[in-house]
Amino acid sequence: MTSVAADVHAEAKGSLQVKPGPILLMGAPGVGKGTQAKELVAKWGIPQISTGDLLRYNRDHGTPLGLKAKEIMAAGKLVPDELVNAMVAERLKQPDTANGYILDGFPRTLGQAKWLDEHIGAGPDGPGGKGGGGALPVIAVSITVGYNELLRRITGRRTCPACGTIYNIYLQPPKVDEKCDLDGTPLVRRSDDTEEVFRERMRTYESQTAPVVEHYRALGRFEEVDGAQAVSAVAAGVEAAVERLRSSGTKAAGTETKTK
Ligand code: AP5
Repeated sequence: MTSVAADVHAEAKGSLQVKPGPILLMGAPGVGKGTQAKELVAKWGIPQISTGDLLRYNRDHGTPLGLKAKEIMAAGKLVPDELVNAMVAERLKQPDTANGYILDGFPRTLGQAKWLDEHIGAGPDGPGGKGGGGALPVIAVSITVGYNELLRRITGRRTCPACGTIYNIYLQPPKVDEKCDLDGTPLVRRSDDTEEVFRERMRTYESQTAPVVEHYRALGRFEEVDGAQAVSAVAAGVEAAVERLRSSGTKAAGTETKTK
């Protein structure tokens, strides 16, 4: 195992004392993955790779991938593994992933998890490095929030189409109604953020993504963080979980972190 001292990430912008490597941010729709990923990007200077954002970009630009994904996303179902895996493979070739990255919303099926473990050479047989991330194995942090709170987060979400800042009209409202605090751009609501599509996204999550959470829990490179706290407290919980997982190499399964 690599020593903690050898892992010190010289360019870390925040308080993290170890090289972050590839981090999976997992959790149900609306749990706060994107919000937390942006916090960690600002702290650690590694990129957020959100498969939802990449797919929305393709959809909005009418690419062949976007045209295939459009109806599937609108229905709250999952885009086929081979399309999403190829998209992630392309993104992981970028040099900004060298010290680590935050995968937000991927993997979402056991097929995607198997592909990822093989692609970056970080399956049960040990660390690899084919996919960047500083040749460290993936670690997974799952954020948890109850159903009714998820519904409120989804139906109240608004996003700035110019800078990507995420708001919530109930929980984190902008200073001026429906306008971005940073650049004044009118905020937008995602078309899949209706109660009806949310219910389908939750069904999809329970049947296809919950087993992926169990996959990483069983591997021992996994922690859970209570997401029903202020954004800063959740961020502190995620950061502490990453630090523990990287410092110890592995982690006993099923540990939950609460930072109150
Ligand atoms: P994707 O965009 O990944 O959607 P999701 O997983 O459903 O997650 P969300 O983006 O809805 O929520 P989030 O957890 O990021 O929460 P956020 O931080 O925004 O995927 C969309 C679709 O693309 C999928 O349905 C599928 O079709 C397709 N797709 C994507 N990846 C795929 C894959 N790998 N394979 C196949 N298909 C794929 O926060 C939500 C709200 O809560 C915000 O308003 C925020 O302000 C608020 N909030 C966050 N944290 C807090 C807090 N601590 N306190 C109070 N409010 C908070």
